Amino acid sequence: MLLDDALRAVELVRGFEGPIVDVGSGGGSPGIPLAAALPERELILLEAERRKCDFLERWAPPNARVVWGRAEEQEPDAYGVAVAKALGRPPVAAEWCLPLVRPGGAAVLWLGPTADLAAVARVSALLGGAPPEEHDGLVVLRKLAPTPAGFPRRPGVAKKRPLA
Ligand SMILES: C[S@@+](CC[C@H](N)C(=O)[O-])C[C@H]1O[C@@H](n2cnc3c(N)ncnc32)[C@H](O)[C@@H]1O
Repeated sequence: MLLDDALRAVELVRGFEGPIVDVGSGGGSPGIPLAAALPERELILLEAERRKCDFLERWAPPNARVVWGRAEEQEPDAYGVAVAKALGRPPVAAEWCLPLVRPGGAAVLWLGPTADLAAVARVSALLGGAPPEEHDGLVVLRKLAPTPAGFPRRPGVAKKRPLA
């Protein structure tokens, strides 16, 4: 079920302090269920499409804030956790999420069982992240160092010229 799928991350996310950003929140998954399950945490629902942001505004719980924008345009190293479900190809999703996270935090990605984790590992290493860890079907990339110079790349570049 959709809700259970989003809530799989609750315990993992609890392990990292600071604001949580749901990158490409779309219809609100996993951000809205996580916000409801973690009412003491600040949630940012980041979404590139204005129309989807209008929908998110209507359903966001009080501890969640909607931001209309692209991952590549946000301040780097600002969040404790970035979560993303169905955001894009795994190396692209990793490149969009990791720069948002400060050292000590993590990106938590909902990736399918066939995801190429070797490619994700290469991207993570280039962005100051650790090798991928799998927890309950989720992939965790811990952020070890600040985002290196040159990242995030300009909007669209990660998709056009993936790092891996
Ligand atoms: C396939 S949807 C998944 C939505 C939701 N996470 C889910 O699992 O149902 C991907 C969403 O990511 C948004 N998106 C794509 N690239 C983005 C980017 N670079 N920054 C922010 N949002 C992005 C799209 O507009 C779309 O709403």
